[in-house]
Amino acid sequence: MDMTISQLDPAFQKDVFRCFEEQAYAIPARWLYDRRGSELFEQITELPEYYPTRTETALLENYSEKIAEISGARRAVVEFGSGSSTKTPLLLREMQPAAYVPIDISGEFLAASAAQLQKQFPQLPIYPLEADFMRRLNLPHEVADMPKLGFFPGSTIGNMIARTSVDLLRFMRETLGVGSQLLIGFDRIKDVDVLVDAYDDSAGVTAEFSLNLLHRINREMDGNIPVDQFRHIAIWNDLYARIEIYLEAMSDVTFAIGGNQYNMEKGQRLHIENSHKYGLRDARLMLRAGGWSPLREWSDERDYFSLVLAEAHPHKNAP
Ligand code: AVJ
Repeated sequence: MDMTISQLDPAFQKDVFRCFEEQAYAIPARWLYDRRGSELFEQITELPEYYPTRTETALLENYSEKIAEISGARRAVVEFGSGSSTKTPLLLREMQPAAYVPIDISGEFLAASAAQLQKQFPQLPIYPLEADFMRRLNLPHEVADMPKLGFFPGSTIGNMIARTSVDLLRFMRETLGVGSQLLIGFDRIKDVDVLVDAYDDSAGVTAEFSLNLLHRINREMDGNIPVDQFRHIAIWNDLYARIEIYLEAMSDVTFAIGGNQYNMEKGQRLHIENSHKYGLRDARLMLRAGGWSPLREWSDERDYFSLVLAEAHPHKNAP
């Protein structure tokens, strides 16, 4: 299939033009995940320095049975940003779910991974939903009357600033309904060197992942950004408890995007990603701010990563 047409996204182009026209020098992190970016992210998850995926996978291997016991059988499992759904079977095989609803913005990925899961779980009704989960959405009517378990692994919430996280958690509560539960992964605050290395690996895969954004602009917006004149930088911002990722111009550069000319000076940076980290109390407060009451938490022995199970209780008059 020729992807050159279907990959063009007007919202991407708008964000890129805004970045340079308004001299905001920031581009939302979601645009890192075109086909090539998604491939590179899969490679990141296997890097020795990138602990989150393997730590969370081990948590699901160890505790899915317990999670299923607390959450109860016959729920519809709704996964937000399912991607390749690699962690999902670990949960589904213990849950006795009534249905599975993977939600992803990329229809291609969605169909392939739903088909793959269907082979593993031939009896399970699967209702893939191609949607942007950052907006309000309607679940397939087939699951309307089932109790729900939202699944939001990977510390994907870490890409969002606090206000956006709370908006999303509130959307999820609206979408899933009172009485539903949410299983969500949070990457924890830890030693700065461990954090920085996870986002600036020695093999340079994360740098390639970041620089792919400039390649994507060149590919999809008729650009000529000199990608080799930019370098990937990962720094820890302690005040905001997050890793910030930038692309920094290594010389004065002039380039065109979609027929418009832009300049950047040597040392100037594009802010392309945040990856927030959380203390357990931060995670709990974030959940409560979004209308979710924490029920149980599971962490690895180093406290590198936590899974939190929360419930959407009915609102009561609080004192
Ligand atoms: C997919 C947002 C969880 O922040 O760890 C990894 C993205 N970026 N390396 C993360 C990412 C660079 C990742 N999340």
